[in-house]
Amino acid sequence: MTTSLITGANKGIGFETARQLVAAGHTVWLGSRDPERGRAAARELGARALVIDVTDDASVAAAVRTVEEAGTGLDVLVNNAGIEPRGEDGGPLPALDATADRLRTVFETNVLGPLRVTQAFLPLLRGSDSAAVINLSSGLGSLAGGGGSPYGYPSIEYPVSKTALNMLTVKLAAALPGIRVTAVDPGFTKTDLNRHAGTQTLEEGAAASVREALAGNEGETGTFVSAAGPVPW
Ligand SMILES: NC(=O)c1ccc[n+]([C@@H]2O[C@H](COP(=O)([O-])OP(=O)(O)OC[C@H]3O[C@@H](n4cnc5c(N)ncnc54)[C@H](OP(=O)(O)O)[C@@H]3O)[C@@H](O)[C@H]2O)c1
Repeated sequence: MTTSLITGANKGIGFETARQLVAAGHTVWLGSRDPERGRAAARELGARALVIDVTDDASVAAAVRTVEEAGTGLDVLVNNAGIEPRGEDGGPLPALDATADRLRTVFETNVLGPLRVTQAFLPLLRGSDSAAVINLSSGLGSLAGGGGSPYGYPSIEYPVSKTALNMLTVKLAAALPGIRVTAVDPGFTKTDLNRHAGTQTLEEGAAASVREALAGNEGETGTFVSAAGPVPW
């Protein structure tokens, strides 16, 4: 039996990923920073609710204890939780409106979150014979402009955080030879993150995460992929 944990899975791409992994027979820990929203989502899917705020060391440590005490082990960690600051009109913020405080807040969730959660769950992942870590990146983090030109989207905070997450993926892949570590670009998907401006369905947005989760540690490590194949760094 394969066990997966998805952070930020009470809605959006994470919720759909959890739905499909439950359907594929995984034991799924559905991560949510809000206990009630997490319980409701887990109940709907037949997953196990796990309270986890990826910006909070104590919350992450408590989540590790919960999984350890349940005895499910952990094979696949999907670092899905992410935030994207937007303007009052719902559009991206102008580049020169970037602030150090906002960059710090975005990094805390989108970069330090995956690092913190991966490090905390490593002892459990090391107990798996098919361990994988999947980091939800974005084509907007591609220096080469995966899925479009890097100049097309003005904001600084979110793309810079995803570029950093890509490098974190490469560094973790090199440091963890027994564990496959992948960065995934889900594509522009209709969720609360972009005020539902996305053009893909949730099923399409979850496709790459689900494929990588089902692959376990089979295949190349340290890659950046979408549902269509490799994404340029
Ligand atoms: N949608 C797209 O077009 C798109 C494109 C490229 C990449 N992505 C990436 O895909 C991932 C999922 O995005 P989405 O579109 O599904 O967004 P979403 O619908 O806004 O969902 C984001 C999830 O992350 C959770 N979250 C935020 N901060 C958290 C924290 N500190 N601790 C734990 N959970 C936290 C949210 O919880 P709450 O409900 O409590 O806020 C929510 O469950 C993100 O990493 C995003 O950057 C999305």
